[in-house]
Amino acid sequence: MIGFLGGTGPEGRGLALRLALTGEDVVIGSRDAARADEAASRVAKLAPAAFVMGALNEEAAERADIVFIALPYAAQKPALQSLSRHLAGKVVVDVVAPLRFRKGVASIVPAPEGSAALEAQAALPGSRVVAAFQTISAHDLLDPNVKVDSDVIVCSDDEEARRQVMALSEKIEGIRAIDGGGLANAGYVEGVTALLLNINRRYRARTAIRIVGI
Ligand SMILES: NC(=O)c1ccc[n+]([C@@H]2O[C@H](COP(=O)([O-])OP(=O)(O)OC[C@H]3O[C@@H](n4cnc5c(N)ncnc54)[C@H](OP(=O)(O)O)[C@@H]3O)[C@@H](O)[C@H]2O)c1
Repeated sequence: MIGFLGGTGPEGRGLALRLALTGEDVVIGSRDAARADEAASRVAKLAPAAFVMGALNEEAAERADIVFIALPYAAQKPALQSLSRHLAGKVVVDVVAPLRFRKGVASIVPAPEGSAALEAQAALPGSRVVAAFQTISAHDLLDPNVKVDSDVIVCSDDEEARRQVMALSEKIEGIRAIDGGGLANAGYVEGVTALLLNINRRYRARTAIRIVGI
């Protein structure tokens, strides 16, 4: 089963929907059980063949084998510190891009550990953190009629976890997973996310990345 911390937000719900459509069982986590159930029923309506449930974040972390962090950056550290024992031994996928917006322009919030992903790994020493999906727009994920057309760069210090998340990413039609190497590279992907948002604003578009030359 795949869990989503903060899965009631657009990014977590969008990823839960896309993975439910591929046949994965999903559990949508929230701080509030009623909000979790509501998000789960929205996903279940669009993916009727899948097993979809809502739960408090603690239960979602406990039940799932792979757990996505789909929280705002400011909430990540305190949330992970309180959930760390539920996440021990698991693969944890961090989709967080630590961004702030001034007059509509996105920039990176400098994380003391170097990136949101490294911060997550520091908060979860007993988990295998994998950074991925930071550049994939929730807007696209939430509409099952939109074909996601993008690479996903997957970074982790754990080779096996990285491979596992690359295979999971490629279950979503239109996504190609790129091996991004160690977690130290995740900060560059977080920065590219800010760049894409600023390009989107200038072109009134929704852009994505493709790596060429491989
Ligand atoms: N939106 C996008 O297009 C997009 C694309 C790529 C990556 N991302 C990344 O994905 C993450 C989630 O994005 P989002 O737009 O879905 O975020 P969001 O809607 O702002 O937040 C997601 C969920 O986090 C929970 N939450 C909010 N504040 C919290 C707090 N202080 N403590 C604990 N939980 C809290 C809320 O769930 P409950 O109230 O139900 O607990 C909320 O529904 C972000 O880090 C973002 O950088 C987003």
